[in-house]
Formats: sequence, structure tokens, C-alpha cells
Amino acid sequence: MILLIGATGFLGPPVLKKLLETGYEASCLIRTDSNITGLLDTAKSAGKKILFSSGTLRSSDSIISALKKADSVIYMVDLEHTDLLENFLNAARRAGIKRAVFISSTTVLIPQNSMAKSRKINSEKLIAGSELDYTILRPTMIYGSKDDNNFSKMIRFIKKRGFFVIFGNGNNLIQPIYIEDVADSITRVIDSKNTCSKIYNIAGKDSLKYRDMLDIVRSKLKKNFKIIKLPLQFSKLLISIYAKISGNPSLTPGQIERMGIDKVYSFHEAAADFDFSPVSFEDGIERLIKKLEVKN
Ligand SMILES: NC(=O)c1ccc[n+]([C@@H]2O[C@H](COP(=O)([O-])OP(=O)(O)OC[C@H]3O[C@@H](n4cnc5c(N)ncnc54)[C@H](OP(=O)(O)O)[C@@H]3O)[C@@H](O)[C@H]2O)c1
Repeated sequence: MILLIGATGFLGPPVLKKLLETGYEASCLIRTDSNITGLLDTAKSAGKKILFSSGTLRSSDSIISALKKADSVIYMVDLEHTDLLENFLNAARRAGIKRAVFISSTTVLIPQNSMAKSRKINSEKLIAGSELDYTILRPTMIYGSKDDNNFSKMIRFIKKRGFFVIFGNGNNLIQPIYIEDVADSITRVIDSKNTCSKIYNIAGKDSLKYRDMLDIVRSKLKKNFKIIKLPLQFSKLLISIYAKISGNPSLTPGQIERMGIDKVYSFHEAAADFDFSPVSFEDGIERLIKKLEVKN
């Protein structure tokens, strides 16, 4: 039995789907107010049963009984929350868990320093220092689900407004990963001994200039839309004023700065060790556009 922690998030349902299709039995740790609709729908459409265990990572004790019923764990809670990870590692040791796969992020590799980056690096060190047979996967930006915060949002915006705003000249390189390639990677590594004690970057097939990515979106959407380019420095100034006024800004100057940098990562180790073979952006975005066309 594999216990999924963080399954009620964005990545959870596709991971559950892939595990069930591959023949694994899964249970999901949920909190009292977790929304389990996506997980129930996934299990129903796979024609499989799943189990739920209650508990919160705020307390090691509350997750012990869920861990005792599991053979391995897939941990999908943001590693920025080092305190939650520490509680998990403590409980996993007490429950005798040996194998766990953790989802980190290529954020740990970007040159700029940030609180999120240093917390995630610290968490990765704690995992590596634990007694677990661990594998850490570091995806780039994930897209491809109806409720992703990245391209689904972008496509809905473009369809509604007919334009899109970019910060900088759009020459920065990106390599987003399709969500099902992340789910597939997790399913491939969970039982593979040669991936233990290793960390893998996983990314989309090709690196693309941001503006070329928009051209692909345009051709796949079959909709001509305007691109408004805002200079990076000007945008940072604008966003820092907005951040001060808003108090709880949805964009920060640091994020604008990070948008301008290249985010390109080699995945040759993942390809060698577990045949990681991601789809192209053209294919991924086409699949996402189809998903968005289906009415609920
Ligand atoms: N999204 C991306 O583009 C992206 C890119 C690279 C890497 N990643 C990494 O992929 C992983 C999954 O990301 P995601 O976007 O799916 O995350 P998410 O949507 O933010 O989901 C977070 C999950 O963590 C659970 N959680 C939070 N606090 C908890 C607690 N105290 N006890 C138990 N569960 C708790 C949430 O449960 P509730 O439903 O109960 O709140 C939810 O299931 C993360 O490690 C993230 O850093 C994501």
C-alpha cells in the first residue's frame, strides 16, 4: 500500500490515477477540511477503491497510524514547509517506513536567493540525512491540468481578453513539464531500487524561449492575440508599488525578476535511470487545450 501525502493538491489526482492504472493500491492522508472530490472522481473513473486516513503534518502523532498501514510514501507537500517535513520524517522513522518519494522543485537550482529556495534546500538536506530509501524529484513548472495555476490560467485569460502581458522581452528560456510526465515519473521510481538516495531534475522535452512558447499557444489555440511586453525594470517598479498597496500581493518584484531568467534543466539522469521521456510542449499544450474544452 502506498500512502499519498499532499494528494488533495494539484498534482495528487493525476498521480493517483497513474498509480491505480499501474495496479498499485493507494491510500491518501487527508485533513478534516481537505477537499477529496478530485480523488474520489479519479478512483471512480479508474474503477478502483482507495482508502483515506485522517491526520495532519502539524503533528507527528496524528499520522503514525496512517504510516503504519503503508509500505511506502509519496510526499507531495511543498518542501518549503520544513517544519511539516520534520514531523513527517519523525513519524516515518517511528512507523518503520523505509521507502519514500519526495517532490521538490527546480526552484532550488535558480541563481537568485529566496526564502522558498533556502527552505526547500534545507528540506532536501533533511531527507538526504534521514534513514529513508528516498528519491527526490525536482520538476520544473508543472502544467496540464484544468486547474493549474500556469497555462490553464493563461489560456483562460487569453480566450477572455484577447491579449497577454509578458514581463521582459520574452527571450528567457523555459522548460515546463506536463503533469502526466510528473505522475509517470513518480510511478516509475516508487519501486525502483536504482533511484534510491538520488535526486533527479525532471522537465519538459525541449527548452523554449518564452515568446516562442506563446507562438505555440497561439497556433494550438487557433486564436490570434496581442502580446503586451512590459520592460522588466519598469514591471518590477510597478509590482513593488502594487505589493506595498495590496498587502497580500499575488505577484512580487522577486517573482518578476525570476521570470526573466532561463530555467532550463538537463534530465539525462532521469532518462538513464527510469526511462524518463517527456512530451513536447506542442503535445502537452494541445492536450491541455482539449481538457479545457470539455465542460464539467
Ligand atoms: N505546481 C507546480 O507547478 C509545481 C512545480 C514544481 C514542483 N512542485 C511541487 O510539487 C508538489 C505538489 O505541488 P502541488 O501544486 O500539487 O501542491 P498544492 O496544490 O499546494 O497541494 C498541497 C497539498 O499539501 C497538503 N498539505 C498542506 N499542509 C498540510 C498539512 N499540515 N498536513 C497534511 N497535508 C497538508 C494539502 O492538503 P489540503 O488539501 O488539506 O490543504 C495539499 O494536498 C509540491 O512539493 C510542490 O512544491 C509544484
